[in-house]
Amino acid sequence: MRVILLGPPGAGKGTQAAEIKTKYKVAHISTGDILRQNVKEKTKLGCQAQEFMNGGKLVPDEIIVGMMGERLKEKDCEKGFLLDGFPRTVPQAEALDQLLATMNLSLDAVILLDVDDEVVVKRLCGRRMCRQCGEIYHVTFKPSSQGMRCEKCGGELFQRDDDKETVIRSRLKVYHDQTAPLISYYDEKGLLRKVNAGTSSSSVMAEIEALVQEKV
Ligand code: AP5
Ligand code: ZN
Repeated sequence: MRVILLGPPGAGKGTQAAEIKTKYKVAHISTGDILRQNVKEKTKLGCQAQEFMNGGKLVPDEIIVGMMGERLKEKDCEKGFLLDGFPRTVPQAEALDQLLATMNLSLDAVILLDVDDEVVVKRLCGRRMCRQCGEIYHVTFKPSSQGMRCEKCGGELFQRDDDKETVIRSRLKVYHDQTAPLISYYDEKGLLRKVNAGTSSSSVMAEIEALVQEKV
């Protein structure tokens, strides 16, 4: 399975990807997670990315493309991969096409998680994440049974710096301006599949599974 999960911030890309990864044993590659790890470790990449991320802006294409070029060559990608948060601009999509061509690989599908902006704002304002294992929670829709601790590993739950309403609205604008053009980019290639992501996590998962099962 070689699939892209496309959709606005808060559409549920990370939530669905975590389940698909467990069930189908494919690599889950989230550019946001890789960047946040680099920020945490204060690497050169992390220092370059931090300001863009906190302001809800995109990190420059050349940084992201270089990073993904390395990541896609890692061994765990051989069984297939799920891209979450990449590509996010047309130049990134073109770079991915070139990269896959040099590896003699092609994409199976691009799944668009379609959801309204106001639903996204509610989801992101209430999101909490585990500092230790990255598990995703929501104060109302998916609370942890351990309060402000992760029910999987006991780690502390925290709110992302970019999950403040003003930053969320900038991220949505960036999505509509720079990422939404990828919908027609992949539709023209016959790869686009649309899922209603405004429903419960389990119904979104069922719709995705119906699309990916034959690609495993
Ligand atoms: P990134 O981490 O990729 O953030 P994002 O795309 O904005 O997506 P999110 O992680 O916010 O949302 P999600 O769709 O994964 O939703 P989730 O499952 O968590 O990127 C962060 C930043 O990094 C960017 O702003 C940019 O600066 C930089 N960056 C990353 N990639 C880049 C690239 N390629 N190029 C340039 N810059 C890049 O769900 C959200 C919440 O909703 C959770 O609380 C969850 O529990 C809840 N929820 C999920 N599904 C449901 C449901 N069906 N019903 C109810 N609640 C739900
Ligand atoms: Zn945890």
